[in-house]
Amino acid sequence: MTVDGKITTRDFAPVDFTSPEDKRHLFRQRALADAVMIGHSTLKRDNVRLGLPDDLKEERIKRGQTRGPLRVIVSNEGKIDNHLKIFRSDPAKMGPILVFSTRRMPKEVRAALADKAILHLSDQRDVDLVEILRTLRRDYKVRRIACEGGPILFRSLLELGLVDELNLTIAPYLFGGVDAPTLTGLSKEFLPASVHCVMKNMRVVGNECFLTYRIRSRR
Ligand SMILES: NC(=O)c1ccc[n+]([C@@H]2O[C@H](COP(=O)([O-])OP(=O)(O)OC[C@H]3O[C@@H](n4cnc5c(N)ncnc54)[C@H](OP(=O)(O)O)[C@@H]3O)[C@@H](O)[C@H]2O)c1
Repeated sequence: MTVDGKITTRDFAPVDFTSPEDKRHLFRQRALADAVMIGHSTLKRDNVRLGLPDDLKEERIKRGQTRGPLRVIVSNEGKIDNHLKIFRSDPAKMGPILVFSTRRMPKEVRAALADKAILHLSDQRDVDLVEILRTLRRDYKVRRIACEGGPILFRSLLELGLVDELNLTIAPYLFGGVDAPTLTGLSKEFLPASVHCVMKNMRVVGNECFLTYRIRSRR
């Protein structure tokens, strides 16, 4: 995020405001996880593949992990474009893609994604994040998930007490603007309770500050 706490600009465009060191930091966090989770809006806007550089894939294999983490997309409506880059990546090389959505997902989208991703469609109107984590643990042996946002998904996980660590990079910019989301989104609502963070690590590289916080559990 920027110095004034913004994670993108008001038009939600994919903005590239952090250094190569920050990108490497993101890849390292991704590489440590069994699964990487992303909200549908971020996937759509940033059009990311959620892959890893070769050296980090090799390190995973040496640690006895798969070449890449499971890639998990969360969407309530399920109107997911099957032309996004993530669906053009070879699952044999990058690992499977799981989509957690609801039966609201249009039939044509289900058909288009059928051979590109594993679909988990719930009968509820909205997905249940607790149930998603339970399924990932039980059926896919996932122990560590790296959530890469965006803010709406992060906030939902936070409100449910499902976040145990926050990796935050403060980049040397200020954007301003009430319409530009912060880490917890654009919502004017307070969180149900303030979330207490305990700083585990702080590292300064160039003009950026890399922070790791443990989130105090409310459960
Ligand atoms: N600076 C950074 O580090 C960073 C990181 C990540 C993202 N971003 C930026 O963040 C912006 C998008 O973030 P966003 O907050 O608008 O959206 P988001 O969190 O990426 O995605 C929200 C969407 O996820 C789906 N969803 C399903 N269940 C959910 C649940 N229980 N809680 C929350 N979401 C759920 C819904 O998809 P459906 O609409 O399909 O139902 C919802 O609309 C982009 O501009 C992106 O560039 C910045």
